Amino acid sequence: MENETPNLETLKIINSQAIESLNAISQTDSLEEWRIKYLGRKGIITQLLKSIPQIAPSERRTFGAKVNQIKNNLNAIFVERKNSTKNLSASSKTNTNQIDITLPGWPFPKGSLHITTQMIKEISDTFQSLGFQSTEGPEVEFDHYNFGMLNIPQNHPARDMWNSIWIEGTDTQKYESMLLRTHTSPMQVRIMENTKPPIRIIVPGKCYRYEATDATHEWHFYQIEGLAIDKGITFADLKGTLYEFAQKIFGEGRQIRFRCDFFPFVEPGVDMSISNFKNSSGHRPIKGRNEDWIEILGAGMVHPNVLRAVGYDPDIYTGFAFGMGVERIAMLKYGIDDIRLFYSNNLNFLTQF
Ligand code: PHE
Repeated sequence: MENETPNLETLKIINSQAIESLNAISQTDSLEEWRIKYLGRKGIITQLLKSIPQIAPSERRTFGAKVNQIKNNLNAIFVERKNSTKNLSASSKTNTNQIDITLPGWPFPKGSLHITTQMIKEISDTFQSLGFQSTEGPEVEFDHYNFGMLNIPQNHPARDMWNSIWIEGTDTQKYESMLLRTHTSPMQVRIMENTKPPIRIIVPGKCYRYEATDATHEWHFYQIEGLAIDKGITFADLKGTLYEFAQKIFGEGRQIRFRCDFFPFVEPGVDMSISNFKNSSGHRPIKGRNEDWIEILGAGMVHPNVLRAVGYDPDIYTGFAFGMGVERIAMLKYGIDDIRLFYSNNLNFLTQF
């Protein structure tokens, strides 16, 4: 080309070579090489422009115009190509580095133990620190353990204290009547039958009552039973143990009060209340409750008939027992006003604990 004078045919060839080689380029570096080769200061197009004076005068005008047109066109497609390569390399970078560390992470939903489970654990820990072990027992129970061995014989009016859900078909001659246990007290008997004193044990578990549901009653709920048997256990031990429990669960400074109550399997039987007096700023420690004393559990000294029934000599061994409703304790501790919330699976409620 340097030797020969270029003509319109040469322009055509150069143009299509330039476009072809630009299209074939795959790397950014080669793009720059291409620009220098065709559009650079000493590039092919510049040389063509310089050769215009040598063109025959009759063709010079057309030739010149054509070279300029090719130059502008190559310039344009070069710029376009360069930009698209830039975008391409940017997007291929993000494709290979999938993680964008500037994006906020996916929230990871955090579960927690049910409030009842937490409460059982807290109460159990308290009694374990006082030397009590923990065990569980059957929810479907024999009449024998739920009532009979607890000094509540067949047809005794005291059975009316517990509205029972009986299991159909178990009261035939072959099977002894069965029911969903109405309290955890049958475990007192099961433990004593299988253990020699001393005994210090608590039994958390589900209980059932044939009852209409309202804000303070559920037909199923949790209880924690407590039992301590040894030589020389007195009511003072019951009082000391439950005082410690009240301090740990409801806070130091809680007073406790006992009043007589009747349960066939204890003598004497009591119910225990915790104090809820207004403090100096006029607020009560238990939220939502306006009484000075709030009943929280039933208790008493294990009845000699119960001890005798499991083969213990009541002249040697004495003991105390208590039973509390877990949801009830949680309601007082956290100011919950409806027991049905515990079984509603309502996340707004559950995630507060
Ligand atoms: N089992 C009794 C109830 O359900 C509570 C209780 C337990 C009372 C132990 C005295 C001793 O109501």
